[in-house]
Amino acid sequence: MRRQYAGEVGLIGHMPAPASLRVVENVGGAVLRRHKVHLLLDKLGERLAFERTGVRLFDALMAKLEAQGSWDRGPTLEELAQFRADEAHHFALLQDVLINLGADPTAVTPSADLAGVELAGIVQVVSDPRTTLPQALHAHLVAELVDSASWEQLVGLADDFGEAALAHKLREPLAQELRHRDTVTTWLKRHAALVVEGTLKYSA
Ligand SMILES: [Fe+2]
Ligand SMILES: [Fe+2]
Repeated sequence: MRRQYAGEVGLIGHMPAPASLRVVENVGGAVLRRHKVHLLLDKLGERLAFERTGVRLFDALMAKLEAQGSWDRGPTLEELAQFRADEAHHFALLQDVLINLGADPTAVTPSADLAGVELAGIVQVVSDPRTTLPQALHAHLVAELVDSASWEQLVGLADDFGEAALAHKLREPLAQELRHRDTVTTWLKRHAALVVEGTLKYSA
């Protein structure tokens, strides 16, 4: 039945109203075919949606940390607040990029829509009051892994489009996302090590 439906039904959605001429002119200075522009705008919209949820994930993690506390060399409130600020900064940067390209940053592109669905489970785990901080961080790691990989893809896309200035602008968020990913990984490794050496009681 799934096979039949997958062959029959239409798409999740469409890109909003034709990309303005400004977009076509701005991207690489060359006249790109519309589907190419749509790819870039769809992916920018996807990251915009993701960063917005990223801020909310850190809000939930901070509340959890305040309630449950952390561990030796685990996350601090300051670090979580810094990462939250990074996500908010990335959101604002993407908004600017889209406006400069002549696109509407409030439009929910098909990939932005899907990013919301993909993130739904992570948001549920992190905001569930019964989950522990390490459990919530594990769910959050899924988000950071996808986020860092997607920023990498976005920088590559801007490069492929010959948009050197845009690619340059996106490299700072990429570096920060790689740091988020590696830091969350380190926190979780440290937590497991403390449990193994008997310093921490494992509660799950
Ligand atoms: Fe992010
Ligand atoms: Fe992040």
